Amino acid sequence: MSPRVLTVVGNRPQFVKAAAVSGRLRERADEILVHTGQHYDPELSDVFFEELDPPRPDHELEIGSGTHAEQTAAILTRLEPLVADLRPDALLVYGDTNSTLGGALVAAKSSVPLAHVEAGMRSGNRAMPEEINRVVADSLGELLLCPTEAAMENLRHEGLGDRAVETGDVMADVALGMGPVADERSRILERLGVEPRGFFVASAHRPGNVDDPEHLALLLEVLEQAAALAPVVFPVHPRTRARLEDAGSLEGLAERGMTTTEPLGYLDMTRLVRTARGMITDSGGLQKEAFLAGVPCLTMRDETEWVETVDAGWNRLIGLRPEAVRSTLEELPTAGEPSPAAEIYGSGRAGERVATAIADRLG
Ligand code: UD1
Repeated sequence: MSPRVLTVVGNRPQFVKAAAVSGRLRERADEILVHTGQHYDPELSDVFFEELDPPRPDHELEIGSGTHAEQTAAILTRLEPLVADLRPDALLVYGDTNSTLGGALVAAKSSVPLAHVEAGMRSGNRAMPEEINRVVADSLGELLLCPTEAAMENLRHEGLGDRAVETGDVMADVALGMGPVADERSRILERLGVEPRGFFVASAHRPGNVDDPEHLALLLEVLEQAAALAPVVFPVHPRTRARLEDAGSLEGLAERGMTTTEPLGYLDMTRLVRTARGMITDSGGLQKEAFLAGVPCLTMRDETEWVETVDAGWNRLIGLRPEAVRSTLEELPTAGEPSPAAEIYGSGRAGERVATAIADRLG
């Protein structure tokens, strides 16, 4: 009999990751998909199901927004009875969000083997909520599915190497597969009136960058430095929009060379990343997607989990230092040069490897 796998997703990047795995997994297992509801806005959730076509959720926990405690507690309370009822053979979680943490804790307390995709990623910064979530998920996981050799090494270092398998990166599968589709279908360049290689694309949502008004002001100065060279297209995450409104800064951004938009769907964002002159971000996924597209990236953090992007010379950590923008851009490769990213991240076959490992080891 096929094993029954209960998959927990809840945030924007997890819908992308599940799109790479679910199809393959369903060839080998009965998958039940649970959406925690941590991200519920159509722009952060529905559009990803429409464009990437992962299976629709079988169960919705509707936890919504809240503090870390509220979100985690709501997942525990609502997921535990579902797991007791469905009695899965394995529980699958992705990445490092509060939805990952909640899923991992319920699996462990219900004695259901846990598989963790994107295991072994570390920033070394315990002030990031994601770092706590990663460490807990990896210590509870029985099958740790690592996107990179660096992640494998982190787990070996923590004594968890015997549970780890290197699969490649599932988000890279989607970026490689959907890139040409985005080029064909997206009309975002026309809508925003920008030319290929004639703009930068920016994103920001880390609490450490946007919740503190002084940090937020510096972040805008970083973007302004880039905007002096070419227009900056800035799709704004809801958390960041709220903080910009609080600071009264949203209105003035156009004058400072920034074109803000609502959060974009996968195809529009991918089209922007692939045609930009450069990326400026604090997201993990976008650092990597820029590298895959052969687009240089400035990362507004002081550490990264995706160390290959930096080691290969396509990404630089500039923190919130506006004075670093111009000189760093001059040192990075020009957009469009070939990058070695596809091979580093598994050549588009990570979803297949994840599904096989789950069926073989936990089935
Ligand atoms: C979460 C993840 C982060 C991930 C990001 C992807 C945690 C701890 N953080 O951060 O790792 O990179 O998702 O986007 O899990 N909001 C809406 N609509 C929504 C969801 C949220 O407007 O559909 C607003 C709410 O005001 C909410 C705020 O955004 O309070 C933050 O949302 P939350 O889910 O707490 O964390 P993110 O910042 O999105």
